[in-house]
Amino acid sequence: MTDAGMNEAMLASLELAAEKSGDIAPAIYDRYFERCPDSRAIMFHTDEYMRGRMLGEVFRLFMSEGVAEEREYLAFETTNHRAYGAAPHMYENVLLAVRDVVQNVLGDDFTAEVNAAWERRVSELLGIIRPLTTS
Ligand code: HEM
Repeated sequence: MTDAGMNEAMLASLELAAEKSGDIAPAIYDRYFERCPDSRAIMFHTDEYMRGRMLGEVFRLFMSEGVAEEREYLAFETTNHRAYGAAPHMYENVLLAVRDVVQNVLGDDFTAEVNAAWERRVSELLGIIRPLTTS
């Protein structure tokens, strides 16, 4: 699949999830804390607005045309997030929680093509985030 095809599949899956299920943010945080109990304590003090703003940026990372231009933003956020107590494994869990919920809402519409787009974007993002959080 081409890069444009991957982006299209990703965008279509997020749009369809919003169409089918409305605001998927609460389900994503539930799934995130289920996958990553340590994160629940770190995010305990945050309200739905803060959580919504954070997820807005995470969605943007999934929807952006390419990840190369997100490198600086990710360097900025991972530095901020060190002070919040975010550990390296938590990033993978938050990204995969978004994927899990979209997959669950889409059911059969989460096709092999859509899956490939998600796998690729998660691994591209972690390719940038891992070195930033483990050094
Ligand atoms: C790529 C992944 C992530 C992105 C893009 C991101 C983005 C953001 C943004 C933009 C905010 C600020 C919201 C605002 O003040 O308007 C925020 C806050 C926060 N994030 Fe993340 N975040 C990510 C991953 C994580 C992870 C893995 C954790 C670990 C639990 C985490 C914990 C927090 C906490 C605790 C706050 C609130 C900080 C405060 O009290 O001021 N985030 N995040």
